[in-house]
Amino acid sequence: MDRIFSGIQPSGEIHIGNYVGAIRNWVQLTNRYDCIYCVVDYHAITIEYDVEMMQRRILDTATILAACGLTPDKCMVFVQSHVPEHTELAWIFNCVTPIGELERMTQFKEKSKQHRQNINMGLLDYPVLQAADILIYKAGYVPVGEDQTQHVELSREVARKFNARYGETFPEPQVLLSTAPRIAGTDGNAKMSKSMNNAIGLLEPPEVIWEKLRTAATCEHRQRRSDPGHPEHCNIFTMHTAFSKPDQIAFVDHNCRTAGFGCIECKEILHKNMVEELSPIQARVREMNKKPEYIIDVLKSGASRCKAIAEKVMDEVRTKIGIKSEWL
Ligand code: TRP
Repeated sequence: MDRIFSGIQPSGEIHIGNYVGAIRNWVQLTNRYDCIYCVVDYHAITIEYDVEMMQRRILDTATILAACGLTPDKCMVFVQSHVPEHTELAWIFNCVTPIGELERMTQFKEKSKQHRQNINMGLLDYPVLQAADILIYKAGYVPVGEDQTQHVELSREVARKFNARYGETFPEPQVLLSTAPRIAGTDGNAKMSKSMNNAIGLLEPPEVIWEKLRTAATCEHRQRRSDPGHPEHCNIFTMHTAFSKPDQIAFVDHNCRTAGFGCIECKEILHKNMVEELSPIQARVREMNKKPEYIIDVLKSGASRCKAIAEKVMDEVRTKIGIKSEWL
């Protein structure tokens, strides 16, 4: 089976955009690929973060992954810093990566603007660590959103540069773009993000979700109940395509276009379907939080399985680059 690698930052609460765009897709991929999913704590420290909260966030993120179905019988889930070979390989990759390639990364430029007081080396080097994450497992496919395609391209370049200098070692990983709909923020902003206060959290109770949906932006052309709507311009409709069944999507589409119902009725149907999908996940999170040993065991076994692979590849890399000491 071909191998997949992807990572998720342990930063803040996971929202339905992350769930639909990434996690739900990751679960499906476990049927067809050998999948490795990683909570990338070393990436998270490249910007300001709350040191006291970090452990909690790592565990909460891993718990959500497991509750969504990413369990050890289906895939490997672990914490990046538990397999230090990632950072070791990143150093070696640093020595084949031109700085210019990193300086032109869109995410680096954006984050440098957002964090002017702290433009650190880690922020610049972020994509090299990401390349190491992927290549330490020789993964061929990387399921990520559009915003990460540039980073995956960089990892292809790193693989090429390494192979050219030291001999064929790494595959050139490819992006696996998800076909999942892109959910915008509840305020209509293109990006759903906790920091912009326009996100629906995966673990929020039904009443809170309802309040957010009730007041959420819809198709702006529909001001009165009698105006026909345009589902293709409506974020609520996009959410329907992510959470409702095909016949209901068709029903909603028709009633919106013909002003057969109002936005509130449309939102009520969505709310019901969303809560139906999220409740079992939330229940599993509550169960897991009652027995913290469970998720700790998941992460320990994930790390030991991944470390076994990573150690072998590091051994091969050390040999190839001429620093393996046979007498050690
Ligand atoms: N940069 C990714 C993001 O912010 C997270 C990530 C880190 C990742 N390492 C990775 C994704 C390796 C895919 C593969 O979403």
